[in-house]
Amino acid sequence: MKIAVIGTGYVGLVAGTMFAKVGNNVVCVDKDQDKINLLNQGKVPIYEPGLNQIVLDAQDDKLIEFTTDINKIKDCKVIFLAVGTPSAETGEFNLEFIKTAAKEVAQVISETSDFKVIVNKSTVPPGTMELIKKILNENSNKNFAVVSNPEFLKEGKAVDDFESPDRIVIGTESEEAKEILSQIYEPFSLKRKKLIFMKPVEAELTKLFANTFLANKVALINEFAKICVGFDADIMNVRNGVCSDRRIGWEFMYPSVGYGGSCFPKDIRGLVHSVNQKNINTRIVSSIDTSNREHKSHLAEEIKNYLADKGGITGKTAAIWGLTFKPRTDDMRESAAIDVINFLLANGAKIKVNDPKGMENAKKIFGEKIQYCESKYDALKDADILVLLTEWSVYRSPDFEEIKNNLKLPVIFDGRNIFDPDRLNNLGFDYIGIGRKYLR
Ligand SMILES: NC(=O)c1ccc[n+]([C@@H]2O[C@H](COP(=O)([O-])OP(=O)(O)OC[C@H]3O[C@@H](n4cnc5c(N)ncnc54)[C@H](O)[C@@H]3O)[C@@H](O)[C@H]2O)c1
Repeated sequence: MKIAVIGTGYVGLVAGTMFAKVGNNVVCVDKDQDKINLLNQGKVPIYEPGLNQIVLDAQDDKLIEFTTDINKIKDCKVIFLAVGTPSAETGEFNLEFIKTAAKEVAQVISETSDFKVIVNKSTVPPGTMELIKKILNENSNKNFAVVSNPEFLKEGKAVDDFESPDRIVIGTESEEAKEILSQIYEPFSLKRKKLIFMKPVEAELTKLFANTFLANKVALINEFAKICVGFDADIMNVRNGVCSDRRIGWEFMYPSVGYGGSCFPKDIRGLVHSVNQKNINTRIVSSIDTSNREHKSHLAEEIKNYLADKGGITGKTAAIWGLTFKPRTDDMRESAAIDVINFLLANGAKIKVNDPKGMENAKKIFGEKIQYCESKYDALKDADILVLLTEWSVYRSPDFEEIKNNLKLPVIFDGRNIFDPDRLNNLGFDYIGIGRKYLR
């Protein structure tokens, strides 16, 4: 089938590439000429494990084309929208990219009489499919159906998630569109039926509920982490006791410096805005973002408190391991590292950072304000403290002797609870994690 994908970011590029991998002819359109140039040289502009080779294979097989020219989608039967929906200042979803993309698609499809299916993959507030439909109706020949098909892939595991999704949610009223989407997704649901059909607005809400649920799990365990420290308990012991209950489980129940990334923060804020506009009263949904914002700065406050009787934070150097919002991605959008580093800088600390994939994106945020180190041990030179913020596997089993020989103060702040506090105490470190504090 001939498929178009508008927007070649984390979602659009993965979707387009995977549709090509199973034999479709795919046109990927993006406004960003640099991105398209890179892709046409066989280079992937983001870090996503496994993706580069699949792009190269699809290019070799002539199944994928990258272009800035929207007119190239004219022959495509199905057009996916995968453009960004960032937060506006007010917290609501900024739908400018979606609206523009819908208008551009409408203009192109108005030049043909063929039936088209327009599928939205971007995460949007409930009711956006109606808006897209209206834009298409006003600007095209009306021979189309619309589908809301939210994306659930996880950065860092996007290829596997797309190839083998838990479910494929299809929100549409059109039988023809259902049939076409079933064909497209057949290769991705071979083992069992994965397609779940519903109304477009229900599909939009499914995505928002799923992200709210997951974000809430993170916020809840982080609140319990604070409670544990208040009662001199270790959250990791409490977590073992709690998560072994199969009704609760282990997934997304990990104490941390707070969730970040391009989805949870903006999706929760956007949902709250939509809900408020409808005068729907919520208590849990409306407090998750506030709770998470506090968690993002909590570790930085702990650092400040710890250093208070050691000459204060001003002039101290913090070695930071990990910048991305999670491992296996280069994405720094809304990463807790931004909050922690900004807090430390504002309090007069110097910062040395290392991250396996995030340093280029970090440079766009911090510029010359911090020092970028090629190796994790380089970051320790002349540092007073070590702060771990992303649980990349390269940080999991470091040479603690080397860390101790370098740090002026033997203390590790573990924003992901990956180290063993007793072991660190025995090696002569103070250890402050999330929801557990082991001072010697
Ligand atoms: N990143 C994720 O893990 C993830 C997962 C699920 C859902 N989503 C949702 O998917 C959507 C896309 O997310 P992303 O992370 O891929 O975004 P992104 O910012 O990485 O990519 C969006 C791309 O769209 C392009 N674009 C914008 N307007 C365009 C237009 N009119 N024509 C062509 N290209 C255009 C931009 O240049 C950019 O390359 C968002 O709504 C997001 O919430 C993201």
